[in-house]
Amino acid sequence: MAENEVDETTGVETTGHEWDGIKELDNPMPRWWLWTFYATIVFSIGYVIWYPAIPLWNGSTMGISGQTNRLQLKQNMLSVEAVRRDKIATLAATDIKAIREDNDLLRFATAGGESLFKSYCSQCHGSGAQGGPGYPNLNDDDWLWGGDLETIYTTIAHGVRNDDNEDARDSQMPAFGADNILDREQIVNPGDKMTTEMVG
Ligand code: HEC
Repeated sequence: MAENEVDETTGVETTGHEWDGIKELDNPMPRWWLWTFYATIVFSIGYVIWYPAIPLWNGSTMGISGQTNRLQLKQNMLSVEAVRRDKIATLAATDIKAIREDNDLLRFATAGGESLFKSYCSQCHGSGAQGGPGYPNLNDDDWLWGGDLETIYTTIAHGVRNDDNEDARDSQMPAFGADNILDREQIVNPGDKMTTEMVG
């Protein structure tokens, strides 16, 4: 095998590669580069041993740390759950008026209330609590059963015309339509009916 040509200026042997008269010198890799390269190899071996890493047909190698993303997620969820449990306990033990004065608690209660409202109340009262035919608007200052914190609390906690709950609010006025006392025509146009009945 022929010896490679030696570059005159530097005294370094060339690799034998040449492009348009430019020749490549066969210098060794810089030390820092080489050591960084070795370090990455050592790191990756350590990583593969410590963490789940190599994909297998059914899952992957598990690593000796016992650590997985799923496990981390579970731990995070548990710590969120713990904070939430404490907050909910505080919320339950705090007087409804005092909640309003505690900014942190109020924010927690409002956010929780918003999502509860979406699950349990929006079907009837509308997604923005704007109400609809037969269902009262909860945004305005016009209240059927009282609009201060405590009476609203009673309305929600015990309900209205709820036979199973002794503390439920009740009114004497029957639901004429729902209870089939009056039909739609009579409700919409009571005057006509009364006149004909009185005359007849
Ligand atoms: C099945 C439909 C329905 C659902 C679900 C419902 N409501 Fe109501 N709500 C009504 C009706 C109807 C009234 C009016 C009752 C009446 O005055 O006879 C009412 C009344 C109220 C009132 C009293 C309004 C006033 O003017 O005094 C409040 C407050 C209220 N609802 C809050 C809620 C909250 C909070 C939820 C969810 C936890 C909820 N409602 C879920 C139908 C519903």
